[in-house]
Amino acid sequence: MKFFIDTANLAQIKEANDLGILDGVTTNPSLMAKEGVKGNDAIMNHYKTICEMVDGDISAEVFSTDFDGIVTEGKKLAAIHPNIVVKVPMIKDGVKAIKWFTDNGIKTNCTLVFSAGQAILAAKAGAKYVSPFIGRIDDTNWDGVELIAQIAHIYSLQGFETEILAASIRSSLHIVKCAEAGADVCTCPLDSILGLLKHPLTDIGLAKFLEDAKKM
Ligand code: G3P
Repeated sequence: MKFFIDTANLAQIKEANDLGILDGVTTNPSLMAKEGVKGNDAIMNHYKTICEMVDGDISAEVFSTDFDGIVTEGKKLAAIHPNIVVKVPMIKDGVKAIKWFTDNGIKTNCTLVFSAGQAILAAKAGAKYVSPFIGRIDDTNWDGVELIAQIAHIYSLQGFETEILAASIRSSLHIVKCAEAGADVCTCPLDSILGLLKHPLTDIGLAKFLEDAKKM
């Protein structure tokens, strides 16, 4: 399973990248706004900076919701760097645009996916990634991880090549559960990645080894 970081914060991207386990980055308008990135030039420059920091796929989301607007915006984003993946919402014009991007050699990430039916459509349109939002599904008292398993089963049965990118990750346990359920990628906040390091027995064991090392 690949690890992406789900942020537009450059310091957090650097910290995850320095760990040596980072395969890519996902952003969305909310994450960009959180970093105070405003205006077309600043947005483009921010994506360029991220592409120069991380050697992997970088998802950049369109704001348009009509076919022509999505295609125009997506072409500009894709021109920033070969690693840009155009992130397109799961709406009717979004699916049409994903098919257009697929036919024209531009990689896409179909976002805001909450059902297996939506994931089938994204795969049929040729999306490189499909992004089920598992935390937001959990928020509605359904099981987000179960959706990952269902999509993984369908994609494997049907031979779809679209990669399942588990998004809206809220904890380290989510990452483990998504790996078990067959996600190809997990895009995670930095805290959830770093949380994987933690176990109290590791801390206790290390303290004892360091104490005994002094007696050597
Ligand atoms: O990748 C999608 C993600 O950013 C949404 O996460 O926590 O806002 O549901 P969240």
